[in-house]
Amino acid sequence: MHYFEYKNGELYCEEVPVKKIIKEVGTPVYIYSAKTIKRHFKVFRESFSKIDHLICYSVKANSNIAIISLLRQLGSGADIVSAGELKRALKAGIDPKKIVFSGVGKTPEEIELALQTDILMFNVESIEELEILGEIAKRLGKRAPFALRVNPDVDPQTHPYISTGLKKSKFGIPEEFVIEAYKNAKKNPYLNPIGVDAHIGSQITSISPFVDALFRLKKIWEELTGLGFELKYLDLGGGLGIVYENEEPPLPQEYADAIIKEGKDLKATIILEPGRVIVGNAGILVTKVLYTKENILKKFVIVDAGMNDLIRPAFYQAYHKIVPVEEKNTEYEVIDVVGPICESSDFFAKKRKLPKMKSGEYLAIMSAGAYGFVMSSNYNSRPRAPEILVDGDTYYVIRRRETIEDLLALETIPAKYL
Ligand code: LLP
Repeated sequence: MHYFEYKNGELYCEEVPVKKIIKEVGTPVYIYSAKTIKRHFKVFRESFSKIDHLICYSVKANSNIAIISLLRQLGSGADIVSAGELKRALKAGIDPKKIVFSGVGKTPEEIELALQTDILMFNVESIEELEILGEIAKRLGKRAPFALRVNPDVDPQTHPYISTGLKKSKFGIPEEFVIEAYKNAKKNPYLNPIGVDAHIGSQITSISPFVDALFRLKKIWEELTGLGFELKYLDLGGGLGIVYENEEPPLPQEYADAIIKEGKDLKATIILEPGRVIVGNAGILVTKVLYTKENILKKFVIVDAGMNDLIRPAFYQAYHKIVPVEEKNTEYEVIDVVGPICESSDFFAKKRKLPKMKSGEYLAIMSAGAYGFVMSSNYNSRPRAPEILVDGDTYYVIRRRETIEDLLALETIPAKYL
């Protein structure tokens, strides 16, 4: 469900014609729909209304501070993985008591900053990290609230690059070490075990992996409470999938009901860390056709966005629907939509049936709100695209287009090479 629709043959984001935005800010450009984000968040939140829960939006999916701020207005907390994301969440006004900090490689500086900020909980991913957390907390005279991120060895049946809960994965702590680690932590007055955590992967389109993971967490929870631990939070991570092509992910309500059924007798606050399901279908990347060309095997449409703007097709062979900004009645043809970057993996679609496109026309790459701009780079010295947030009949530039001067400003030539 989203608010990108054709009206009189023209693609709109809510009440704003996409072409109006292009005219003002050019292409490539990311356009987000506030109404879609709000709707997704509310549906997600209402699905869990029957149990005690906290939604910590996973900032990595789309970390623009305007988006985080909008979600904060709706009551969201934040799941963060770096000092950068912590500062973004704080700048967007998120209550530190609604921030959870995950990640396998937290640096001592990041841990210190988060402790000073008094965040809700560290999701600790290794025994060594737990030791460091204890040491830093002691130095600061604080008690570090934490959960261990358990690796439940559950197969989320998604792309291998975004599976994180398998035994072979770098994430979390193997189930068999977890109880011992909690027992050791209990002896340290600077460590405060308050929860258990797992995150098994992303773009998950069936319920059973979540239920399996919850089942494992529940066993650990019960064992720990039996040992006298007073836990409060059960964090099930994020990962609920969305429709890019013809996937059939569970509805938030179905996902929530399964979790509620399995988790309701735990006396826990369930933490959820949704990212993609909130923002994924709330954003598009709009690009201009620069050239068309063909060889004996293929037809190409060369656009002004590249894999540096949206890397998902190159990286995960991800499918993104592509539509013309102006509806066309022309014949269809089978084409590759490719970018200007000097890499063969710089494509948005291969052998895609699309209306015949001409130079100067525009295409919208759909479902680009999550892991789009945040994964963009300056490869080939390309300034990154601006981000626009539409709300009703108004739009806001929430990140201006980078300039080449912005890129060069960070570099210096040592005198001897002048
Ligand atoms: N919590 C943790 C600890 C995570 O690592 C992630 C995502 C989430 C929550 C949010 O997951 P979501 O609800 O968005 O599935 N770049 C990839 C996705 C990487 C996901 C990384 N972790 C992509 O473009 O598909």
